[in-house]
Order: sequence, then structure tokens, then C-alpha cells
Amino acid sequence: MRYLMSAVGAVAVFTMTLIVSVPVQAENFLAGDIVNGRKIFTQGKGDAVPACQSCHGVDGMGQDDMGTPRLAHQVFTYELKQLTDFANDKRIDNTLDAMNGIAKALTAQERRDVITYVESLKTPFLGSDLRALKAAGDVKIGDRARGAMIVEYGAEGIISCKSCHGFHGRSAGRMFPMLGGQRYVYLLNQLHAWKNGTVADGRANDPRGMMRKVAKSMSEKDMLDVASFLTGALPYTIGNPMAPPRGTD
Ligand code: HEC
Ligand code: HEC
Repeated sequence: MRYLMSAVGAVAVFTMTLIVSVPVQAENFLAGDIVNGRKIFTQGKGDAVPACQSCHGVDGMGQDDMGTPRLAHQVFTYELKQLTDFANDKRIDNTLDAMNGIAKALTAQERRDVITYVESLKTPFLGSDLRALKAAGDVKIGDRARGAMIVEYGAEGIISCKSCHGFHGRSAGRMFPMLGGQRYVYLLNQLHAWKNGTVADGRANDPRGMMRKVAKSMSEKDMLDVASFLTGALPYTIGNPMAPPRGTD
């Protein structure tokens, strides 16, 4: 009995330690100055860093006509890694030739500050308007229903995106970015870059070559289909946060 009580006591002390330490860790983890981050995002810094919002949008939702990604709602650790990779030329911005210079001109702390501000942008979900893109005639649009099947179950020779990026590309946290609701043009550009697969092509910065392997297994049609589904994939399902109903894909 005495043994049992002390075990319960130990658990209580352990639990209290957890309760006390978790919020502190969370704060240290972000450790960005949101006020400075907002300044960089909205005004830039000197001549070398234009305001992030001039390309990524005031709400951080990205723009198809520029090929910029949505930054809002993206995983903090993932975004910070991308800025660091741009700064070290491990990832190359071949779309506007802008991000490498911008990331280099910011200190590590400033990169953290600006991503901390991005974390606070809460514009509701907004994917690309595929009808408008199709009408403009700039890009081909794929088959959403087939894309949904690949995302969830994979296809011959293709691993399902869900196994790493979570259900409907909602992200599995940390190193695995959110893909659902990402900009269509940007998604296609990234898949092409992973498929070509050298640093000069833009992206060879995936841990253990995970994405290069996936992209190499995909045809152009697979990419169009998957991106057409993902850009419109909701980040939640009304009434059920885990499983979207069948038939809405
Ligand atoms: C001149 C336009 C421009 C400006 C200004 C700009 N960006 Fe970008 N950014 C881009 C483009 C284009 C890409 C996509 C590059 C590619 O295709 O790989 C990008 C990509 C990114 C990514 C990678 C996102 C992902 O999902 O992998 C991050 C993070 C990012 N930008 C943050 C910022 C921040 C923070 C600022 C301001 C300090 C900023 N950008 C300013 C054009 C810009
Ligand atoms: C084995 C795990 C794995 C699988 C399976 C996988 N991915 Fe990824 N993916 C990753 C990782 C890890 C990253 C981030 C790489 C980095 O750090 O730059 C990534 C990044 C991406 C990006 C870049 C996102 C951005 O914001 O720049 C796209 C697009 C992407 N994946 C699409 C897909 C699609 C589509 C599928 C399914 C056909 C898929 N992935 C399957 C691991 C995976």
C-alpha cells in the first residue's frame, strides 16, 4: 500500500512537472519577436529585403500569377527550415530568383521573427481558383477525383501522400508540410523541381531524398491530378475533424 501511494505521488509530481514545463518549452521553441516579424513582413528590411507581403500577399495566402506559396497555416518548423535552406543555397528559388537573396539578408533571429508573425496570420482557408486559372489558359488542370485517390491510397508505383503529409495533405507536423489549400501553380512547380532533383533545379533539400523518390515515380498527369485535388482540399471537415465525407472529393 505504501508502495502504491508513493507511486501515485511520483506520478503526480511528474505530471505537475510536465504541466509547468510544457508552456515554457512552447514559448522558447517559437522564440520569435512578433513585432519585428510584422515589420519585416509588411515593410521589408533595407534594400535587400522587400516586404514579404508584396509577393506572398497581405494575408500570406500566396499568388498563382507570381508562383508564390501560401505561407499562412504552414508548419512553423518546416517554414523555418526552408528559409535556412534558401540562406545556405540548399534550395534555389528558380521561380522569381528572389528568396535566396532575401533569406541571406536576414539574420537567423530575424527569420525566426518573421515566421513567428506568419504563424499569427489566420485568414480562413483559400485554395486556388481552378476555374479562373483554366479560363486564363495559363496552366493545365487535372482530374481531382483521381488526384484524391493518389493522395489517400497512392497508385501503382506511387506512395500515398497521406502516409507522410497526413489526411488530405493537412500535414503530419514538423518536417512534413501542409499541402491542402496550397497554391496550384506553386504545387506543380515544386513537384517538377523534386522530379528533376538537383540543387540547381531548385529542390534537393528533402531529408533522405523522400520527395525526390515520390516525384520521380509520378507522370505529368499524376502531378496535375494530385495538385488539382490538393489545392481545394479542406483543412477540416464540418462536424468531424478527422474524416471528410465521401463524395465531396
Ligand atoms: C519577390 C517576391 C518574393 C518576396 C518579396 C518574398 N518571397 Fe518568399 N517566395 C517567393 C517565391 C517565388 C517562392 C517559391 C520559390 C520556388 O518556387 O521554389 C517563395 C517561397 C518562400 C518560402 C517557402 C515556402 C514553402 O512552402 O516551402 C518561404 C518560407 C518564404 N518564401 C518566406 C518569405 C518571407 C518570410 C519573405 C519576407 C522576408 C518572403 N518570402 C519574401 C517570392 C518572394
Ligand atoms: C516518404 C514521405 C513522403 C511522401 C510519401 C510524400 N512526401 Fe511530399 N514531402 C515530404 C517531405 C519530408 C517534405 C519536405 C521536404 C523539405 O524539407 O524541404 C515534402 C514536401 C513536399 C512538397 C513541398 C511543399 C512546400 O510547401 O513547398 C510538395 C508539393 C509535396 N511534398 C508533395 C507530395 C505529394 C503530391 C505526395 C504524394 C504523391 C507526397 N508529397 C508524398 C515527404 C513525403
